[in-house]
Amino acid sequence: MCGIVGYTGKRCCVSTLLEGLRRLEYRGYDSAGLAVVENQGLTTVKNTGKVEALKDRSAERWPDFERCEGYTGIAHTRWATHGAPSEINAHPHLDDSGKFAVVHNGIIDNYLELREHLRGQGCEFKSDTDTEVLSHLIAKCYQGDLLHAVAAALNKVKGTFGLAVVCSEHPDKIVIARRGSPIVIGVGNDETLVASDISAIASYTKRVIFLDDDDMALITPGSIEIRNIENVPVSREIAQIDWDVSAAEKNGYEHFMLKEIFEQPQAVENTIRGRLDKSAATAVLNGLNLEPREMAMINRIVIAACGTSMNAGLVGEYFFEDIAGIPTDVEQAAEFRYRNPIIEPNTMVLAVSQSGETADTLAAVREAKNKGAIVAGLNNVVGSTIARETGRGIYLHAGPEIGVASTKAFTCQVSALLMMAVLFGRGRRMNRTDGENLINEIQQVPNLIQQVLDRAPEIEKIAIKYAKAEDFFFIGRGCMYPTALEGALKLKEISYIHAEGYHAAELKHGPIALLEEKVPVVALANNIPGRDKVLANIQECAARKSPVIATATDGDADIASLVQDVIWIPECSRFVAPVPTVVALQLLSYYIARERGCEIDQPRNLAKSVTVE
Ligand code: AGP
Repeated sequence: MCGIVGYTGKRCCVSTLLEGLRRLEYRGYDSAGLAVVENQGLTTVKNTGKVEALKDRSAERWPDFERCEGYTGIAHTRWATHGAPSEINAHPHLDDSGKFAVVHNGIIDNYLELREHLRGQGCEFKSDTDTEVLSHLIAKCYQGDLLHAVAAALNKVKGTFGLAVVCSEHPDKIVIARRGSPIVIGVGNDETLVASDISAIASYTKRVIFLDDDDMALITPGSIEIRNIENVPVSREIAQIDWDVSAAEKNGYEHFMLKEIFEQPQAVENTIRGRLDKSAATAVLNGLNLEPREMAMINRIVIAACGTSMNAGLVGEYFFEDIAGIPTDVEQAAEFRYRNPIIEPNTMVLAVSQSGETADTLAAVREAKNKGAIVAGLNNVVGSTIARETGRGIYLHAGPEIGVASTKAFTCQVSALLMMAVLFGRGRRMNRTDGENLINEIQQVPNLIQQVLDRAPEIEKIAIKYAKAEDFFFIGRGCMYPTALEGALKLKEISYIHAEGYHAAELKHGPIALLEEKVPVVALANNIPGRDKVLANIQECAARKSPVIATATDGDADIASLVQDVIWIPECSRFVAPVPTVVALQLLSYYIARERGCEIDQPRNLAKSVTVE
């Protein structure tokens, strides 16, 4: 997804803009650019390719980044939506006079109509982007007040935006606005920053302000004036970032993804910390803001999510039904928002989203609210849009997840869903003993993960053995079915191998036609209910000469003779088993992708947070 950075303050802005873009690289992009207000004008530098190339180009203009004349500027990394990746399509975009520069995330739905209208007024368009209409529109609306000009322009716009605007006539001002694409303000000392993602500015300040949809702000080095798009003043609280900027660094790991795989014991520890009440044999999730009686009234749960978060939700479905006895459905968020879902007054809609910014999941939240559901979020990013619009929920506290392929978010989401199921169950028919047992099991999760991480070298050997395969199947039953889906998604995302996750019983209903010697099957055969049936499925695969890699529980004496390779998983119950098992699958995918020389942290075509439909 595109990234935005802006700075106005006491220091020359170029190095801050470039550093901010570097921290946003993980989001995926194809070109980058910046604009600096200096010498009564705007200087822009843009190029396709990496931020490093932009830095080199900028060095040609400013040989010493610390001694430039510009103290206000904006910058952008572009993930092409309208117009191919090119220097001319890279942001910032300027108006004809060169006085206004705009960087923009989102999609202007009525840009063609606006472009024709502006062309009729003599504007000359240089790019194929929708964004360029904004720079010309703002210029046309400008009568001396930058905030008013941007407000007037945005009132003509349909679509989504997170944007920042600078003007050569206002060397210490940036105007920002958001509708459907996040923008956060960093509150510094005699300096103010803006970004589309906290990680771009966390090294400069931990005090941030999240804009809501249709908020705008005029920022200067020492002031922040927030209004809505109707020009009415609004107040937004200053939030405190709860993690250190080093958490957004690789800290010696080759890739962010590997770091985030290995930090899962700590991440899950953070998710469960302070939320297990052994004396009452239940979980404590005050962020849900639900009284026990309100919780007891919930008679159906709908989980709305995308991608990995949906796979976590599919695991949670088993928890809510098996542990808490609550009918539960998992909906692809994109489908939920359009299919006129049935929502009753006692339905809870749970939006699972690591970033809290996924457009389809956010839209599902809004649809659920319109239908009167009890809405809650399960998010990792504090202050994210979904977290704020649900108004209640559970934060993962997993720290920033930079790798595009989600890892610790999944294990923390599953752990949080398990705690939620215990809480709901203990408010219903779950007895104290069962509650205590599950609480004890949840407490063991970080240790179980660590045991699998300690086996990484064995998993790496297996990965290298199968790295040349072009097709994989992942199969499982019960909670291990969505775990298989997640394993397949990981492999697809980072190794570009075609991998399918399937319920083990489904193979014989068609997919088994694809099995042959060059198609490995990863079978999740942990020693939990359904294992014997998975063993039978393994035999079916072996009969078609597919090599089988099984995950199996330590001490399983039968498995080795049935399969080519075994990934050993420590003993644990069927509820907890998805977590250590998925860590093994994350490692398997990582080592295969690395063996294939793939770009692991920023896989082709992918973005970390899909903030467009
Ligand atoms: C997972 O590896 C992918 N990056 C993607 O499927 C992701 O899980 C999905 O886009 C949902 O993101 P969210 O959790 O931030 O809503």
